[in-house]
Amino acid sequence: MPIHHLTNSWILETDHTAYAFGLDSGGRLVNFYWGERLLSPSDYPTQASSQNWASFSNAGQLAREEYPAETGLKYIEPCFKAYYADGVRDTVLEFEKAEVQGAELRIHLMDALEHLGIILHYRLHETYDLIERWAEVTNRGETAITLERVLSAQWHLPRKRSYRLSHLYGRWADEWNIKREALAVGKKILESRRITTSHHGQPWFAVDGGTANEEQGEVWFGALAWSGNWKFIAETTEFGATRLSLGLNDWDFAWRLKPGESFSTPAAIYGYTHNGYGEASRRLHDYTREQVLPNGKTLRKVLYNSWEATTFDVDETSQVELAKLAAEMGVELFVMDDGWFHGRKDDHAGLGDWWPDEKKFPRGLKPLIEQVNALGMDFGLWVEPEMVNPDSELYRSHPDWVIHFPQRKRSEARNQLILNFACADVQDYILEKLDTILAENNIRFIKWDMNRNASEPGWDTAPGDPRELWVRYVQGVYRVWGILRQRHPQVTWQTCSGGGGRVDLGILRLADQAWVSDNTEPTARLNIQEGYSQVFPACTMEAWVTDMGSEYLPLEFRMHVSMCGALGIGGHLVNWGAERRAEAAKWIARYKEIRPVVQFGDLYRLRSPQQDSYSALMYVSKDRKEAVLFAFRTHQPFIPQLEPQAPVYPRGLDPQANYAVEGYEEVRSGLGWMRIGIELFLEDYQSTILHIRQVE
Ligand code: GLA
Repeated sequence: MPIHHLTNSWILETDHTAYAFGLDSGGRLVNFYWGERLLSPSDYPTQASSQNWASFSNAGQLAREEYPAETGLKYIEPCFKAYYADGVRDTVLEFEKAEVQGAELRIHLMDALEHLGIILHYRLHETYDLIERWAEVTNRGETAITLERVLSAQWHLPRKRSYRLSHLYGRWADEWNIKREALAVGKKILESRRITTSHHGQPWFAVDGGTANEEQGEVWFGALAWSGNWKFIAETTEFGATRLSLGLNDWDFAWRLKPGESFSTPAAIYGYTHNGYGEASRRLHDYTREQVLPNGKTLRKVLYNSWEATTFDVDETSQVELAKLAAEMGVELFVMDDGWFHGRKDDHAGLGDWWPDEKKFPRGLKPLIEQVNALGMDFGLWVEPEMVNPDSELYRSHPDWVIHFPQRKRSEARNQLILNFACADVQDYILEKLDTILAENNIRFIKWDMNRNASEPGWDTAPGDPRELWVRYVQGVYRVWGILRQRHPQVTWQTCSGGGGRVDLGILRLADQAWVSDNTEPTARLNIQEGYSQVFPACTMEAWVTDMGSEYLPLEFRMHVSMCGALGIGGHLVNWGAERRAEAAKWIARYKEIRPVVQFGDLYRLRSPQQDSYSALMYVSKDRKEAVLFAFRTHQPFIPQLEPQAPVYPRGLDPQANYAVEGYEEVRSGLGWMRIGIELFLEDYQSTILHIRQVE
């Protein structure tokens, strides 16, 4: 029984972890415990007193509240703040009741005076050692309420320790950098105000006591399933208490909740491990593959994308020429990128007019798709549904459909404006256009792109508060995408936003894979992929070999880097020449052999490329019968002999079973290989893949 109910307290147990909370002596819902699973329910603390420390530090300031609302003598970050019709801006949440339904606990809280109800949902994912939390706010009164802040969760770390926060930061073409920094008194705030998840941060955290590494150490981690504005706050008080909050960004946020209406926050997923960052990632990976992704157990195909070869200059001839070469190399999915639709000569025109350009494709897309299919490949297409160029039929007919303040200038970025996906008319127009393309053509893959962020966030026809835009926009995108997915289940979807600008556990309910960066230079990519892997599994990580880095990096190295994820090719195949294409074909065949282990196996990051010029990682199949180890050397000291290269120590093998490592004669137990290591000598820009197999 994973949910234990004692008097006024609840203990949530997963296979290896536990989370306990309940009512303190003052009736507040407070956290008692978050950590390793203990031996029996009686092991957990189930009480907390509620005493004032001084008139300046009231009990409310000190309590480890599960979902603090803005009220009384407390000055910490609240989860909830509302403005009521009677002018009150204070919410007093009192416990009403608790219900258990299957693996979900619901705690009902209520502000009786204002007729506001909040249900805190806790859903256990026992085998993943994860808990999912969200809040549902209901207006049970007779006047509208303005919600000003509604976060998904607040967590409390064990007291009196110092903590270190790991998070991801970046910018366009340089996403997924890992930053680890000590948390000191005060706040560390990470957020997006851009209408997407953004290249600049990720709604994910991992906190440890300062000494955790990939293999060991306590780590408390979590992530938000949301593709719009988000906020993460790590707050360390003057009493040495650290609390973490995550949810919708309250910057420029408001939501008008009419009588009888409810508002649900996005879900936050969180967990604890004492086996380091590696285990934290593996738990998120398994959960994402099995519970979030629509088809997480389907192998991702090797794709070719023609963007870097032909850019906007697409037509039937150029695409068929590339398709033939791709098919010969063993590519399974041919994707035509930007440039195919009405009026799209460059990035100044066309967005919004989602039908084939009459000059480039006078016969429509069908003849091209048929030729691609005849070559044995699926066909895929690029779209950017949320965008419009002022130079388009759509904008000329509906200039008011974009996000804007009518009185002000509309800032363009990449010559485009954003359609207001909060509006049903906009959603329906795009739905109809994409539905038609998908119904009329044998399209098996859609790359859904989003190439700018919001500005001048006006919505003058908003039925509620115009600031609802930020949330309703994302809900609109989810709705259109969800309907298309349902109507066209044969399609695999990719999320892209100028690279990795919109990857999160929300979009991965709709998208099967993600374009993680527009930067495909392989040495940069090693870092990008390491950062990405903190949160997301390899089957979602599209990794293409393009022409970036081809002047100084061998094809083998470039292929190896991309073989760590869902392999794709994006170079100009005509320019590659027969020899390079034949070599790539060999690597594609090799990838097909190892891809079940890469895409569905457990990831072990052995040596960090963000810290070491000699990096390594491995994937181990779930039954531990097979593993694939990748190692890369980018650069080394001037006289390499002076630096003997340390062996790479594999991990995740069955210690008792025997393994043979490709290229090595000796057979050793898993324990032997993990303790003795594998000696590898790599020169600059050398890399290797070792297949490791269990033997009798
Ligand atoms: C974005 C994407 C690229 C490509 C171009 C097309 O930059 O990230 O992969 O699709 O748009 O315009």
